[in-house]
Amino acid sequence: MKALHVVGARPNFMKAAPVYRAMAKSGHEQTLVHTGQHYDTLMSDIFFEALEIPPPDESLNVGSGSHAQQTAAIMSRFEPVLLARRPDIVLVYGDVNSTVAAALVCTKLGVPLGHVEAGLRSFDRTMPEEINRLLTDQLADMLFTPSSDGNENLAREGIAKEKIFLVGNVMIDTLIRFLPKAEEIFPKLQEELSLDHYGLVTLHRPSNVDDEATFLPMLKALSELSCELPLVFPVHPRTSQRWAAELGQAGPGLRVIDPLGYLEFLALQQRASVVITDSGGIQEETTYLGTPCFTLRENTERPITITHGTNLLIGRDWEKLRKGFHAALNGSRGRKEPPPLWDGKAAERIAAILTQPIQ
Ligand code: UD1
Repeated sequence: MKALHVVGARPNFMKAAPVYRAMAKSGHEQTLVHTGQHYDTLMSDIFFEALEIPPPDESLNVGSGSHAQQTAAIMSRFEPVLLARRPDIVLVYGDVNSTVAAALVCTKLGVPLGHVEAGLRSFDRTMPEEINRLLTDQLADMLFTPSSDGNENLAREGIAKEKIFLVGNVMIDTLIRFLPKAEEIFPKLQEELSLDHYGLVTLHRPSNVDDEATFLPMLKALSELSCELPLVFPVHPRTSQRWAAELGQAGPGLRVIDPLGYLEFLALQQRASVVITDSGGIQEETTYLGTPCFTLRENTERPITITHGTNLLIGRDWEKLRKGFHAALNGSRGRKEPPPLWDGKAAERIAAILTQPIQ
């Protein structure tokens, strides 16, 4: 079969990598298209190297813009590529603008579409990702879900059962594969950053970082906590562009650094005493690693991370964050059995399913 993978933004790369690898092993012909939604070396190129993905066959170079501009640019640049390549299936990943844009083009041209990481729902339509998830799942012919809550959500939305495949979490495939390498580089990283005990912070959601009234109290709460435990904060370009001056004055405990590569971030996540984030993927990675995670959002599309016991939704309740933070520092921790099918084999399951003829 001829498969075409579309990636565009940082969180896509670790999801596509194991699927590409598993499909190569099964002998499928493959094309990799990079939309260019993320383009900085630290947001894109270094992930291709670390995750051992071949360079893209096609680069659409769309860059940044409003949601409408970005989605439209991806659609108009992807259409001729799809017409020229004529794959048997297109695989899209996660919930970014590149995902929904490519999905629309496929559906209009009648090219079968597979969505990897289907079915997740935050039930919050103010999040751009929720709209991307809802639409992509409506359009997809094959929906690969990471956990059973995804299947329930899709059934509720009327998606035919035959299209849904519970395969497990492909991002955890990547984590399992690269954890030994991450552990190897940890001592060097620890020395470079002069770290002993530390916490790790990431923030990039528009709802957190775009407005002063939200971001500044958040930064203040983090600065206070960083007096008790140094907090390493690799800053997403969206956040650093907006808040360079404020981040510079946040106090010595908050260690503001450039975005990190995959192995470096994984190494820091595993050894961190706590992680504070608004990312979706990091909620899952900390669940697998058993690292206490505090999510600065009101909701999550990954409820399994909450029921598993590693993740706590904080919203903007700084007292709740302080209490949880202290409890995590004083409590014992250990890795529990991961959620079902988070076993490093999700991508193999996808490749096996795609080896069957498409209905
Ligand atoms: C996007 C995804 C989000 C995902 C995140 C991971 C959508 C709607 N959002 O958000 O779901 O969690 O990626 O990082 O698809 N920029 C750079 N260099 C880059 C990329 C972006 O400087 O390589 C800056 C630009 O100013 C850009 C801004 O970051 O306008 C936002 O980038 P964009 O791709 O629109 O959204 P993200 O916030 O990265």
